[in-house]
Amino acid sequence: MCGIVGYVGPKKAAPILLDGLRRLEYRGYDSAGLAVHDGREIEVVRAAGKLENLANALEQRPLCGSTGLGHTRWATHGRPSEQNAHPHAAGDVAVVHNGIIENYLELKHELQASGVRFASDTDTEIVAHLIHRALEQGAPNLFGAMRQALGRLRGAYALAAISRREPDRLVIAKNASPLVVGVGEGETLCGSDIPALLGSTRNMLFLEDGEMAELTASGVRIETVEGKPVERAPRRIDWSAVQAEKGGYKHFMLKEIFEQPRAVEDTLRGRINLDEGDVVEAELGLDAQAARSIERVVLVACGTSHHAALVGRYWIEQLARVAAHTELASEVRYRDPVFGPKDLVVAVSQSGETADTLAAVKAAREGGARVLAIANVLDSAIPRASHGSLYTHAGPEIGVASTKCFTTQLVALLLLAVHLGRRRGALDAERGREILQALLELPNELRWTLARKADIHQVARHWHNAPHMLFLGRGLGYPIALEGALKLKEISYSHAEGYAAGEMKHGPIALIDENMPVVVVMPRDRQYEKTLSNLQEVRARDGQVIAVVTEGDAEAKKLAQWVLELPKMPELTQPVAAVVPLQLLAYYIADLKGTDVDQPRNLAKTVTVE
Ligand code: M6R
Repeated sequence: MCGIVGYVGPKKAAPILLDGLRRLEYRGYDSAGLAVHDGREIEVVRAAGKLENLANALEQRPLCGSTGLGHTRWATHGRPSEQNAHPHAAGDVAVVHNGIIENYLELKHELQASGVRFASDTDTEIVAHLIHRALEQGAPNLFGAMRQALGRLRGAYALAAISRREPDRLVIAKNASPLVVGVGEGETLCGSDIPALLGSTRNMLFLEDGEMAELTASGVRIETVEGKPVERAPRRIDWSAVQAEKGGYKHFMLKEIFEQPRAVEDTLRGRINLDEGDVVEAELGLDAQAARSIERVVLVACGTSHHAALVGRYWIEQLARVAAHTELASEVRYRDPVFGPKDLVVAVSQSGETADTLAAVKAAREGGARVLAIANVLDSAIPRASHGSLYTHAGPEIGVASTKCFTTQLVALLLLAVHLGRRRGALDAERGREILQALLELPNELRWTLARKADIHQVARHWHNAPHMLFLGRGLGYPIALEGALKLKEISYSHAEGYAAGEMKHGPIALIDENMPVVVVMPRDRQYEKTLSNLQEVRARDGQVIAVVTEGDAEAKKLAQWVLELPKMPELTQPVAAVVPLQLLAYYIADLKGTDVDQPRNLAKTVTVE
C-alpha cells in the first residue's frame, strides 16, 4: 500500500525522507509529500505523480528542520491528487497513514457537525482532526492525543504524526498495517517497510498491533494503546536492499501470493453489515429500484480478470437470480454488441487501464447500459469511465502474473452478488449473513492453504520438466482450472490447458497417457461426484493426477497420485482458496525452471494496446 518514512535527529530531515521514499518507489504510488518541523512551524510540500515532482517542488520550497514525515500514497479514499496526498494537517498536527479507516464516514460527519472543514477526500485527514481536537480539549501532549484519537478509530492503520508544539518527536501507532522503527546513532526513524530505513540504519524493531510509540533522537518508547509499557530491543537486519523490497521472499509474485489473506481482509474492511446480512457499499450507486430493473448482467474482462468474471457469473446468477454472462473484452469490442438500459455491465480489471476492457465499457455505455467497475487502481481509466466502482484493496501488485488481485476480485464479485441479491429481494438476511460470515473466514482459510506449501513444492519438483499439463474443474472449479493453466503458461512457459471437466470426453481425453499430468480441482461441492468420475477416467488411461481436494478426502487420496488439500469451508467461497495451490504450483515450477518469474517474457502488467 502506501509508503511511510519518519525522521527525528540532528540531520536535515528532508533529504533523508526523500531517500526513504525513493527506496519504496518500487511499490508504486500516485502522489507524495513531506511535512518538516522547521523549529517554529510545520511546513508541508506535496505533489501528485512521481517523486521527481515532489523533488522539484522541494527545490522551489526547501524544507529546513530535523523532524519530519514523508509519504507515498496509493489511493484508497479520494482520487490521486495533490490535495489528497499526505501528510494531512489539522491545527498544529500533521499526519501520514497507511491502511483504511473503516468508520471514516461516521467520524467525518461527526467532525463536520462540530464545524470542521475538510481539505481532502481522504480518511486520513479525519485522524489529523481527531488528534488536533484532543489537543484542543486538553490532551497533555501528542502521544496522549494520538491515544485518544485511536480510541475512535476502527480499521487498519500505520500512523505517524508530528506536532508544532513538540518539535523533537514523532508519535506512531499500528494496527494491521506494518510499521518499523529504525534506531540509529543519535537519530530515530520509522517506516512502513524495511527498505525505507536502510539508508540510515540496520537496527530495527517492529511495532505490534495495538501498540504506539514516541520517537526522539535518543530512542524509542513503546506502549500499548491501553498504556502498558513495552520493552523491545532492536535487531539487526542484514537483508540487501533488493531482498528487503521483496520482504525476504525470492520474488514479488511469491510475496504477493502470501499477502492474499491480508489483501482479502482489506477488501472486506468496512463493507460487511452482519446484522443486516448485507454489503455496505455506497460507491456502487445501486439502490433497490436500480437493482430490480436489471434484466441481464454482463461481465467484461481479459485474462485473469476474465477468469474472476467467470466465477462472478455463477455467484450473481445463484444469489441475485438474474441472467449473467461473461464476455472477453478483447472479443466483444470487435463485435457489434447489443447493450441496453436494462443491462448492468461489470468491467473487471486489476489495472483499470486495459484498452480492450475500456473499449467494451465505452460500447456498453453507448448502448445505454449501466456500468460498474471492479478495479484495484483508484481513479484509473475504467472506473472513471463507469457509473460506479467497487475497488479491491489488494495494494500494488508488482509481479506481472496476477495473484492477489485475482483473489480480491473474487471477493469483490461475491460482495456484489450479495449486494444485488439483497437489493433484488432474491437473498434473505439470514443467507446473506451466512455468505458474509464465510467471506470473513476466508483470510484464515487462505493461511491454512498457504501453510501447505511444502506439498505443492513436492509436486512442482516432480513435474517441473513436464512439457504439458492439463487442468480440469467443474462449476466454480472450472474458472479456477483455467486460471491455474494461465498462471503456469505465463510464468513457466510450459504448455497448459484449462478445461471444463465435463468437456474431457469431447476431445482432450485423447491427450491422456502416463506422461500427462492432470490437475483436477475437486473440492467437496455439488459437482464432486461427477468430477471424481472424471478423475477415474484419467486414471483408467494412466494419466497422472494431482487432485486439489478438501481436507480428509479419502476417496481422492486413493485414486490420485498427489493430493493438495484445502480446508473444510463453505462451497461458495471455495474458489478463492482453490486457486492458491495452483498459483504456488505455477510459481515453484517456474522457479525450478529458472524463468524470470516477476517479469515473464513478452508480458506487460498493464495492457494499454489493442
Ligand atoms: O489489468 P487487467 O486485470 O485488466 O488485465 C487483464 C489481463 O491483461 C491480465 O489479467 C493478464 O492476463 C495477467 N498477466 C494475468 O496474470
